[in-house]
Amino acid sequence: MVNFAHRMASVHRSFIREILKAAVDPTIISFAGGLPNPRFFPVRELEEAARSVLSRDGDSALQYATTEGYPPLREKIAERYAARGTKVAPEDILILNGSQQGLDLVAKVFIDAGDSVLVESPSYLAAIQCFGLFEPHFRALPLDTGGVSIPALTEALRTESPKLFYAIPNFQNPSGISYTEARRRETSRAMAGSTTVLVEDDPYGEIRFIGRDLPSIRTCMAEDGSGTERAVLLGTFSKIVSPGMRLGWLCAGKDVMENLVVAKQAADLHSNELTQRIVHRYLCSADVDGYIARIRAAYKRQRDAMVGAVHAFFPKEVSCTEPEGGMFLWMTLPNGMSALSFFEKALAQKVTFVPGSAFFTDGSGENTLRLNFSNCDVATIEAGMERLSRVYAAM
Ligand SMILES: Cc1ncc(COP(=O)(O)O)c(C=O)c1O
Repeated sequence: MVNFAHRMASVHRSFIREILKAAVDPTIISFAGGLPNPRFFPVRELEEAARSVLSRDGDSALQYATTEGYPPLREKIAERYAARGTKVAPEDILILNGSQQGLDLVAKVFIDAGDSVLVESPSYLAAIQCFGLFEPHFRALPLDTGGVSIPALTEALRTESPKLFYAIPNFQNPSGISYTEARRRETSRAMAGSTTVLVEDDPYGEIRFIGRDLPSIRTCMAEDGSGTERAVLLGTFSKIVSPGMRLGWLCAGKDVMENLVVAKQAADLHSNELTQRIVHRYLCSADVDGYIARIRAAYKRQRDAMVGAVHAFFPKEVSCTEPEGGMFLWMTLPNGMSALSFFEKALAQKVTFVPGSAFFTDGSGENTLRLNFSNCDVATIEAGMERLSRVYAAM
């Protein structure tokens, strides 16, 4: 008998990681994972950058380094934000092992057992898992096609004094929903005067293929005078360079940063210095924006194929979101239908997705599911969706 900590009792293995194991069978069409398309990994450019870093700066690249991260990389991130209209000082940036580490550090720094944490409903599974280890009380806030419900947010802020509000305003994982600009500004105003920290997770912001860039909620807080001391903005290189390199960052004000740096020191001293320098060299020497434009164009074609297939192959009572970017769309089946039994039947026909209930903290969403469109080409999407529609019709 092994005695584990209490916190392990309420958190389980990620359903998606388990599905991903099943999906290694190459004959399965998988819409389950959240994988970028490997066709676009800049392998040659990164090889060049790695060679250059090791030959020119090998001694320092292989040495221990500062917790905050490689200063030129922090400057480069600030510069890229500025080009998109977001003001962040390099010293407000902490380099992470993927933005997932930011969620872990934020949870460690803010959540005591029983604290209230606001999440969108549905929300990102690995954030629910990560926060769950610190035993909070989750309060789920409904999302509509324009973002989080402001009345529900306002009410929760008033009655629960939550520690955190975790939001994914751009092409949310799992739903593909984005906040309108008005909703971002309303969210900022609703948060003003509360003690709640906004954790704004933005892994997909640069993969917008429809419409124009919208300000982050953090930017709205700066512009409407609420201030950004209670905002943590997360970003990552996973979707625009490579997820395997595990490099992301967070932006936070001085006091919050101080605590996050302590938590990061305790966790891992610092992120991989060699990787940071390679990515920095890559950002300085390659046509990164041209590369991101190619990803956007391909994902748009893939998204169009998937949305088109939902309309062409499924009956009207099945609806889906029409994301303006990112990697996922969200399908809703008629009330009473089980996406889990749809999943089991689909897997038998060698096509997978993620049943939606995994993304809800309150056990709802039984008739919903998440479909990934970034990791399959158009022909595979059309074939897989047609196959899925036959499984659906047989149900
Ligand atoms: C909403 C969201 N947050 C965070 C992450 C973690 O990304 P990273 O690879 O930067 O750790 C993901 C990955 O899919 C995500 O979808």
